[in-house]
Amino acid sequence: MKYAIETFDLTKTYGDFTAVDSLNMKIKKNSIFGFLGPNGAGKTTTIKMLTCLIPPTSGTARVAGHDVLESPDEVRQKIGMVPQKVSLYMDLTARENVEMCADFYGMPQDLRETRIDDLMELVDIKYAADKPVGQLSGGQQQKVSLVASLIHQPDILFLDEPTIGLDPTTKRVLWDLIDELNSSGHTIILCSHDMYEVELLCDYVGIINQGVLAAFDTPQGLKDTLIMEEESVKAREITGILDKIEQESAEPGETGKKGGVCRGTEISMLITNLTDDLLSELESLPVTLEVRKHRTGRVILELDEKCETAINEVLMALLRNNARITSISTRDPSLEDVFIKVTGG
Ligand SMILES: Nc1ncnc2c1ncn2[C@@H]1O[C@H](COP(=O)(O)OP(=O)(O)OP(=O)(O)O)[C@@H](O)[C@H]1O
Ligand SMILES: [Mg+2]
Repeated sequence: MKYAIETFDLTKTYGDFTAVDSLNMKIKKNSIFGFLGPNGAGKTTTIKMLTCLIPPTSGTARVAGHDVLESPDEVRQKIGMVPQKVSLYMDLTARENVEMCADFYGMPQDLRETRIDDLMELVDIKYAADKPVGQLSGGQQQKVSLVASLIHQPDILFLDEPTIGLDPTTKRVLWDLIDELNSSGHTIILCSHDMYEVELLCDYVGIINQGVLAAFDTPQGLKDTLIMEEESVKAREITGILDKIEQESAEPGETGKKGGVCRGTEISMLITNLTDDLLSELESLPVTLEVRKHRTGRVILELDEKCETAINEVLMALLRNNARITSISTRDPSLEDVFIKVTGG
């Protein structure tokens, strides 16, 4: 079995509203998959269908090798779920809640107590094991939810926005845990609005918009596609502008200097021996649209993207002036840029 999850025209409608629209995707076994999308896009609805909490209106899915319609019990044995809204019994203690899950999965008595203790230690919630869940904080409840979802060692773990409300340290503990679980063979499905988290953890990303899968690739693949799309849009825009200039017999040239056609490439650097001469040379390069010098000494150059050798020309100017560079970077599009583009935000 190559895929942990395969969906086949998976659809959910509520009355005449389509929450998930003919979703087709394949998620590789042993990967971490990030499921992104604006509020109301259909992420939780999809996850609910994949975890057999609600039936699809049409289409189906195979989860851990079993069909969600034909073999929901087999699917349930293979998956763990941390829902978006904590669904624990508030009057029961943390340990009692997890024991109920162990009962549900028919875990042998002799195994369960050690496993509950180990998992509670792992996510650092053992100190609250005997407190009623209703008396725990939101983050503590989420940790109990995580222990409950892992008790039966599921092949696939669904996490619906698991780090919302967690403090930065606990977030990191959870990220490490996700990474460890994945290294030990688990497939992770992670719904999140945190682009940093998704970029840090995920091998593949799917972006859903108004119930439709709008993009599916590796995080880097999505960013590279955006760069390529921007390049071709720019090429079209530039051709259009040149045609217009020709038609109007206006003076050519000067289109780049004001930076109106497109966002320039940005290059940011710290130079220990920056002089006014070097700064003016950088300013006077034909590829330079704008130079900004920060209080810290950092220099940020906005370059004309139409010139393929723009970065080379800056580097050559720096070398000519024996500049000592302690840090240099260019700005690539972020996953957030991809998200905004794909979802039309
Ligand atoms: N039981 C229901 N009855 C009617 N409409 C529903 C029901 N459950 C979800 N929806 C609708 O389906 C759409 C998708 O909801 P869903 O919870 O899947 O979004 P989401 O992508 O998880 O959003 P968020 O990022 O806010 O969690 C929303 O418009 C929602 O109002
Ligand atoms: Mg949701």
